[in-house]
Amino acid sequence: MAEKRGAQRLFFAIWPDHRVRQGLLRIARSLPEHGGRELHPDDLHITLAFLGMVETDRYDCVIEAADRVSGAPFTLTLDHIDYWKRPKILWCGPRDTPSGLSQLVQNLQERLSVCGFEPEERPYAPHVTLARKARHVDAYPLEKTMEWEVGEFALVVSRGGREPPHYQVLKKWTLDS
Ligand code: 2AM
Repeated sequence: MAEKRGAQRLFFAIWPDHRVRQGLLRIARSLPEHGGRELHPDDLHITLAFLGMVETDRYDCVIEAADRVSGAPFTLTLDHIDYWKRPKILWCGPRDTPSGLSQLVQNLQERLSVCGFEPEERPYAPHVTLARKARHVDAYPLEKTMEWEVGEFALVVSRGGREPPHYQVLKKWTLDS
């Protein structure tokens, strides 16, 4: 067995480009008073699949799994602000999950199962976390919705440490099939 050289916290995500990031910031700034901690602008994203701590000797399998993913670009409409009580997070997301996104998540999970990653049991709920440790905010529709043209996905590492940004993109894949 290959020597284990440590582990890092990994996840797959859709990662905003500059324009979308600016739009997400605009949405974050328009939130009602919540008392929480807003995410660093460079950390904003939508998780596709959370892998947890992954030993470096499994990285090749993870990369190969992503290489095999097929999917077409899709449009995501961010039109909804909501709050989850237990993790105390305030988020924005699409009211309707586009089929391109559901298919991408399903395909990614199937490919990752070859590497021994179990698919998430909870139904997939796409969201951009905007603030943590926030007070309750009633869900509401965004007056000014935002279209996100998604043409790629990314493997991201959570770097730890106290100072944001906490996440770093390791590799990106284009959706072109
Ligand atoms: P969150 O924003 O809802 O907290 C990096 O931590 C990313 O992975 C975040 O988007 C986080 O979602 C998500 N994440 C963290 N722990 C997770 C878990 N146990 N299951 C699914 N997603 C998780």
